[in-house]
Amino acid sequence: MTRTCPFLVGIACFAILGCVTVVQSQVTLKVTEGNSTCIKAELSASFSITYNTANGTRTVMVPLPGSAVVGVASSCGGDGRSPSLVALFGDGHALGLSFSSNVSLYSVANLTLQYNLSDVSTFPEANSTDVVTVETTSVGMVARVNTTYRCISASPVIVGGATVTFSNVTMEAYMTGDDLSPNESVCTADQSFTTAPPPSPSTTTAPPPPPSTTTAAPAPVPTPPGTPNQGSYSVSNSNGTVCLLARMALQLNISHFSASQNKTIQEVVNLQPNQTTSSGSCDPTSATLVLTQGSATNLSFLFTLNTTSNRYHLTGLSVVAAWSDMTAPFNTSNSSLDYLRGSLGRSYMCSSEQTLSVDQNFSLNTFHLQVQPFGITRGQFAQAEECQLDQDSMLIPIVVGAALAGLVLIVLIAYLIGRKRSHAGYQTI
Ligand SMILES: *[C@@H]1O[C@H](CO)[C@@H](O)[C@H](O)[C@H]1NC(C)=O
Ligand SMILES: *[C@@H]1O[C@H](CO)[C@@H](O)[C@H](O)[C@H]1NC(C)=O
Ligand SMILES: *[C@@H]1O[C@H](CO)[C@@H](O)[C@H](O)[C@H]1NC(C)=O
Ligand SMILES: *[C@@H]1O[C@H](CO)[C@@H](O)[C@H](O)[C@H]1NC(C)=O
Ligand SMILES: *[C@@H]1O[C@H](CO)[C@@H](O)[C@H](O)[C@H]1NC(C)=O
Ligand SMILES: *[C@@H]1O[C@H](CO)[C@@H](O)[C@H](O)[C@H]1NC(C)=O
Ligand SMILES: *[C@@H]1O[C@H](CO)[C@@H](O)[C@H](O)[C@H]1NC(C)=O
Ligand SMILES: *[C@@H]1O[C@H](CO)[C@@H](O)[C@H](O)[C@H]1NC(C)=O
Ligand SMILES: *[C@@H]1O[C@H](CO)[C@@H](O)[C@H](O)[C@H]1NC(C)=O
Ligand SMILES: *[C@@H]1O[C@H](CO)[C@@H](O)[C@H](O)[C@H]1NC(C)=O
Ligand SMILES: *[C@@H]1O[C@H](CO)[C@@H](O)[C@H](O)[C@H]1NC(C)=O
Ligand SMILES: *[C@@H]1O[C@H](CO)[C@@H](O)[C@H](O)[C@H]1NC(C)=O
Repeated sequence: MTRTCPFLVGIACFAILGCVTVVQSQVTLKVTEGNSTCIKAELSASFSITYNTANGTRTVMVPLPGSAVVGVASSCGGDGRSPSLVALFGDGHALGLSFSSNVSLYSVANLTLQYNLSDVSTFPEANSTDVVTVETTSVGMVARVNTTYRCISASPVIVGGATVTFSNVTMEAYMTGDDLSPNESVCTADQSFTTAPPPSPSTTTAPPPPPSTTTAAPAPVPTPPGTPNQGSYSVSNSNGTVCLLARMALQLNISHFSASQNKTIQEVVNLQPNQTTSSGSCDPTSATLVLTQGSATNLSFLFTLNTTSNRYHLTGLSVVAAWSDMTAPFNTSNSSLDYLRGSLGRSYMCSSEQTLSVDQNFSLNTFHLQVQPFGITRGQFAQAEECQLDQDSMLIPIVVGAALAGLVLIVLIAYLIGRKRSHAGYQTI
């Protein structure tokens, strides 16, 4: 009975997200110079932005509207500048993509998001009127030169305190004709969904082969990593008070297309705590923890608090991974999860291995975990609530111990009875 409730809530969340996606408009953007087009993009995007109010922080979801226009800062490159596409929308907001390329591949080298906190209809109760600009170089959009980058799947990009989620993207930069090339570079997220050919009748191509055609080097056999090391992470709010604590060992399990083996493989990689930094934000009813290992791995956790039941749980996980053997950076997210359930004012603890499944291509294995996303006092974990797995594993020694004690008792009683009988026997003789 209790299990069906979170499940139904999950479906409800999913349905709401579905509605948001339907409302989102497909935007077409073109950068031209003279008579020729150098960048063309057809895409949907939405922004999740966290900002400060007088009482704390607030998060809004803003779609890229159909009315977005190409700004004058866009360029086809040249004169040492890189080609870039800047989309302007609303009251002084902008999304910029700038590209780089070499002989075989082109990619989005950096993404810039600018938002105007003076726009009170979008950012109600913002305590600042600043125009905020955030930037990231881990975008994960890579395609072969002279092909169209295609990614129907939703792909999140984390940039500062915001997340940009792209979907239904077809885009080409360094164009040689006026229209998108019929040859496509399909992102990894889409490849895994389509073993059957994708619906569009246009000529689709196989997953991008490694451009350097030095014939198959012996495929490196992935060595399974040992148990990961435990890291300690925290998030502080703007006045420096610790508001989220986590202690955990993490292992990422990603299915992706391997460049060296020319097939989809499952790669299991440990997060290295000593190379990982944490950041995030805390709201009264939601908290995020972002773990970044170099520029290769970016993992975000979203916890939410139900103020009716005073219980929290992990609702969202997203990952961006750019590992050496990938043909294109991997990214995925799921915001209707229900893991790590705990009570407000307590921490959640699970020493046993747990597998948090995010989608068919990504799961996160946790070991020696203790988290508390809400209600931290004095920067310390509160009393822990142990997960069921730990209780079960604790139960086994107890059951075995009890069984052993019972056995000893039975043997002892049998011995005593036997002794008494034989004693009685002697007496009768
Ligand atoms: C652009 O095209 C128009 C006609 O379509 C032509 O008259 C003009 O010269 C062209 N400009 C350039 C820079 O090619
Ligand atoms: C902030 O506090 C004021 C007054 O205490 C209240 O009216 C307002 O609703 C609060 N805003 C939020 C977002 O909680
Ligand atoms: C806005 O609020 C945050 C904390 O909520 C505070 O750190 C920041 O200084 C405030 N900014 C302004 C301009 O008042
Ligand atoms: C930001 O928004 C305010 C109010 O909506 C507007 O007056 C201002 O021009 C905007 N700033 C920019 C840089 O567009
Ligand atoms: C990102 O692109 C902008 C222009 O689009 C440029 O000014 C900036 O230097 C770039 N940053 C990096 C790190 O490449
Ligand atoms: C092109 O760039 C990609 C990554 O940006 C790199 O992996 C590849 O080796 C480069 N190719 C050449 C021929 O330089
Ligand atoms: C891309 O197309 C242009 C013009 O058609 C051609 O000159 C160039 O060699 C092509 N590059 C690749 C990598 O196919
Ligand atoms: C993707 O975009 C195309 C137009 O570019 C549109 O026809 C199609 O319905 C969109 N698909 C989804 C799932 O939004
Ligand atoms: C810091 O801010 C939080 C809420 O944002 C508040 O609960 C806490 O009391 C503040 N601590 C200090 C020392 O000001
Ligand atoms: C990759 O595998 C496919 C079929 O599995 C094959 O057609 C293709 O030639 C292979 N590419 C390379 C570069 O080995
Ligand atoms: C990180 O830890 C691992 C194993 O504990 C160690 O081998 C490695 O040298 C450490 N790296 C750094 C940069 O400290
Ligand atoms: C919060 O918990 C209550 C009681 O368990 C439940 O009825 C309600 O649906 C939950 N709300 C959300 C948003 O999950």
